[in-house]
Amino acid sequence: MKLAPSILAADFARLGEQVAAVEKAGAERIHIDVMDGHFVANLSMGAPIVASLRPVTQLPLETHLMISNPDLFLQEFVDAGSDSLLVHWEGNFNLHRTVQCIKRLGKRAGVAINPATPACVLEEILQDVDQVLVMTVNPGFGHQQFLRSTLAKIHRVRLLIDRIKPECDLEVDGGIDPETARLCVEMGANLLVAGSSIFGNSTGVMAAMEDLRAAVQPVQV
Ligand code: DX5
Ligand code: ZN
Repeated sequence: MKLAPSILAADFARLGEQVAAVEKAGAERIHIDVMDGHFVANLSMGAPIVASLRPVTQLPLETHLMISNPDLFLQEFVDAGSDSLLVHWEGNFNLHRTVQCIKRLGKRAGVAINPATPACVLEEILQDVDQVLVMTVNPGFGHQQFLRSTLAKIHRVRLLIDRIKPECDLEVDGGIDPETARLCVEMGANLLVAGSSIFGNSTGVMAAMEDLRAAVQPVQV
């Protein structure tokens, strides 16, 4: 199981320090939530944050684009230092073209699906992507409650991946804490995004990440 701390829940005044802390604690990548106030009802951050983090961490920077018209911004995020670009199935009428564009830019491509979107929409695009992101809350805000109705879908996505592209990562995002992490890994997720359960944990990011890893340990043996 791999962990991708979401900096949406970090203290932006100490961002470099917080990223260094999760890197030291063994994070596998940094998850960067980009919101445009249009695709989702919130604003967050853009490519300058990626550019600021690029020189201060060795970790891959994965960029979750919750924006309308992601094609317009792919180059900018690649130039800033993103290693993977995750785009939503929803609202994208030419998803295959977007994914090919990401691959042409030499980066890892991922497709995200919202809670109401069925697993089956992934069937034709799966062979072209490096990861799938199953949203376990509605996108737009951190610190929301995990939607248990997404669990069966995570399992369906796992079956699709095993059949079509076993090396594809199955990532979950939203409301991930030790309890929900275990449920998701049981259903077949291998990459967990966590914001508030890591950066909002009063015992510190190291202990928070240890708790997440310990919670999924019994599932993995
Ligand atoms: C939600 C974002 C998530 C968010 C997760 O739209 O995509 O990455 O930061 O935050 P938590 O872990 O607090 O639910
Ligand atoms: Zn995200």
